[in-house]
Amino acid sequence: MDTVTLRIKRYDGVKEWYQEYQLPYEKGKTLLYSLTKIREELDPTLTFSAACRHAICGSCAVRVNGNAFLACKTSLDQLLETFETERLTLEPLNNFPVIRDLVVDWEPKLERMKAVRPWLIPSEDGDPSEGFRQSPEDFRKIASPTDCILCGICSSECGQLSLNQEGYLDPFILNKAYRFAVDSRDAAPEEHIRPALEKGLWKCLHCMECVTKCPKEIDLAGENAYLRQASIQMGERDNKGARHAYAFVEDVKSKGRLNEVTLPMKTEGFVSTMNRIPFALRLIRKGKINPLHMPREVEGIEGVRKIYEHAQGVKEP
Ligand code: FES
Repeated sequence: MDTVTLRIKRYDGVKEWYQEYQLPYEKGKTLLYSLTKIREELDPTLTFSAACRHAICGSCAVRVNGNAFLACKTSLDQLLETFETERLTLEPLNNFPVIRDLVVDWEPKLERMKAVRPWLIPSEDGDPSEGFRQSPEDFRKIASPTDCILCGICSSECGQLSLNQEGYLDPFILNKAYRFAVDSRDAAPEEHIRPALEKGLWKCLHCMECVTKCPKEIDLAGENAYLRQASIQMGERDNKGARHAYAFVEDVKSKGRLNEVTLPMKTEGFVSTMNRIPFALRLIRKGKINPLHMPREVEGIEGVRKIYEHAQGVKEP
């Protein structure tokens, strides 16, 4: 291979277009190297952001062939091999307003982040002269969420956010809620968790895109599960998400499988389920559900119940 083609989405504040740049192929370079080379040698108007070049500042994230990467951490060879092509399409992050070319606007996101109060809320009874001491064990709980570099990759790839910008918080914001909720020095975890709950905590689609793309390998899905569980422990059970979780647990415990006819009723309530009858009829016509099917206990249900008994006896880490 002699050359590589980067097809880049451009935006000048008014119109959008794709522009192609051909570069001589150089082995062992990063994507950021290629972008810098274009700007320095081919087109000084190409706009992108980068600062540290070491996966620390989070400013160089872009989408390549529909997947978000940190340009400074991603090898061009790896991209060419992954996508089996010599021609890559680069676009700005998804789910962000674009300022120019590959640069996105963080202001609205940072404004939204304030909802989860991303700071320590100290106890009023504490003795300030004691400082904010933390054991190594407690520090370990916040070590991974603190790794977040605010690159925005999780938000760009989030399936729920693509559908529902207003009704769901960006995964990195939920990460902030988690980071302060589990901090042993924070006196009001519910003040971080409740806003997350009100902004669609249970709406995560479990697509796992945030987890697989996070350049810091933060377990965003695990954090989300913790926040949900903590919200239930706070007494927040009267919402669709919590009702669905309880209905799911009950079904599997009693029969070892789900009852797809009663599950929506238990989750959404009678009236809301009735409003969905046209949708349910379409599912029945397509053979997706059978309203007459009453699931029987699965073989080995005793084993399933033992798993439940065991799980109830396991202490939270
Ligand atoms: S330039 Fe800082 S993370 Fe890539």
